[in-house]
Amino acid sequence: MKMHRITFGLNGEKVSLEVEPSDVLLDVLRGKLGIKSPKVGCDRGDCGTCTVLMNGKTIRSCLALAVEADGTEIVTLEGANTRKWTQKLQKKFHEKNAFQCGFCAPGVILSATELLEKNAKPSMHDIKEAIAGNLCRCTGYEPIVEAIDEAAKGK
Ligand code: FES
Ligand code: FES
Repeated sequence: MKMHRITFGLNGEKVSLEVEPSDVLLDVLRGKLGIKSPKVGCDRGDCGTCTVLMNGKTIRSCLALAVEADGTEIVTLEGANTRKWTQKLQKKFHEKNAFQCGFCAPGVILSATELLEKNAKPSMHDIKEAIAGNLCRCTGYEPIVEAIDEAAKGK
């Protein structure tokens, strides 16, 4: 199969590599680029564990082809750690023990980061809506929603 060269920003660094047209972005990030925070969950767009930011917007990397990343800026939790809201969220999630197994955490944190970067004063409804695509099998969501609310309010 003909390979395609793609070049994109990954957590602030420029990366360039050859991919097949059918390669999935999640697989390329994890398998070829050693980025492990996006997790393989359902692998069909339902659970949100593979969430990454593409040009500042959350996408499900299991549904994106690697060629779609060409020319974009991709940020994963590894690179989001320097962003103001990501740091506040992580501190608050830790303080409140908001996660149990943590499998959903990278996706939830990126969804919440996207929300707070756009809207620093979200309502409870906004918060629930922002993480609606991130399935958590452990917590019942309450501590996650509270942690995002408290991080936004600077509590
Ligand atoms: S692994 Fe991508 S949405 Fe579940
Ligand atoms: S903490 Fe286990 S899936 Fe969310």
